[in-house]
Amino acid sequence: MNGENKIIRNLEVLTEHFIPSRVVHRDGQLKAIRDDLKPILNEMNARNVFLYGSPGTGKTCMARYVLSELREHAPVLTSYINCWKCRSRFKILFNILQDFGMRFSVHRRGQPTDELLEMLGKKLKDSYCVIILDEADQLEDARILYDLTNIPKVSIILIANNETALYDAEPRIRSRLMSSDRIEFPVYNDKEIFDIVKDRTEWGLIPGIIKNSQLESIAKACNGDARVAINILRIVSEDSENQDLDSIPDKLIKNAVSNVTSKKERRMEDLNPHEKLIIKILKGKKSLDSGSVYRELQELAEKQGLEKIVDRTFRKYMDGLVKHGFVSSAGQSRWRIYSLAE
Ligand SMILES: Nc1ncnc2c1ncn2[C@@H]1O[C@H](COP(=O)(O)OP(=O)(O)OP(=O)(O)O)[C@@H](O)[C@H]1O
Ligand SMILES: [Mg+2]
Repeated sequence: MNGENKIIRNLEVLTEHFIPSRVVHRDGQLKAIRDDLKPILNEMNARNVFLYGSPGTGKTCMARYVLSELREHAPVLTSYINCWKCRSRFKILFNILQDFGMRFSVHRRGQPTDELLEMLGKKLKDSYCVIILDEADQLEDARILYDLTNIPKVSIILIANNETALYDAEPRIRSRLMSSDRIEFPVYNDKEIFDIVKDRTEWGLIPGIIKNSQLESIAKACNGDARVAINILRIVSEDSENQDLDSIPDKLIKNAVSNVTSKKERRMEDLNPHEKLIIKILKGKKSLDSGSVYRELQELAEKQGLEKIVDRTFRKYMDGLVKHGFVSSAGQSRWRIYSLAE
């Protein structure tokens, strides 16, 4: 924030992780999540929740929104885990314990997973907790769901893009998943996206700097993905600010709209060794069919002393790489062709 700004009043409002004080067009989903968690207010176990829907439909935002509300009304512990970044059971438990204020010395990093589970159980003797497991389709080991749901006073909010995520988990895990409250997040229409970005302009920009017609063209370009819409708004605002303009010109909007991608900004370091190999295989090639990528991966993995992965894991990795903007794909299932994203 800067008194001399001509366009931007508060840049944070235009970033992905900002949790708005008002959310719109998700009343049904909000009510459902609130109802599921309500028992905690009376010191009773809450229901587990499963949120699913396309990218940019507000799943992460609503889950975090409801938890921050809940924290205001009850002494509940909460933790947010992104399973793309924390995939192993150990890492997930370690991060949950850290979120709950447990401090570890370095040597404790080598602690066995079961000990961490035990510590969590003890910590929760006298408090309820809700854990968000976001991007759960990227979990390396779905047993963590079993571990967590077995601890009294723990509720989880699981988030994934597809309703069928984790369908292939073992039966005892699946049955827990089936009994959770399944809440769908449909894709937004243009009007709904308009309302979402309109709110952001009111909080984040100087009044009158952007026209409704411009917000409409942003809404139209983003195919119902609110993340993309907010990103476009941030880009055009920053560009206008940097060029010392007094308002946002149509030309900038047109450019930003034509460059739309739903790419997420992910860092290479977050990739696991197999995913890094996949990137290496695709580098320098125009494109490669799924079967060839898989075969080359197995060969390279073996050479490097990494374990081979099963087909299901391979598909999970490819889906993740596509979703996070590292790789582009074309075609269906087995005939799918992959290339490195621009
Ligand atoms: N109904 C809404 N009201 C206000 N802001 C919203 C709403 N829905 C989404 N947003 C904002 O849009 C952006 C994308 O939403 P979010 O991150 O929740 O999507 P998602 O469904 O979790 O997507 P993905 O599956 O890709 O993770 C966030 O910045 C979020 O704050
Ligand atoms: Mg999300």
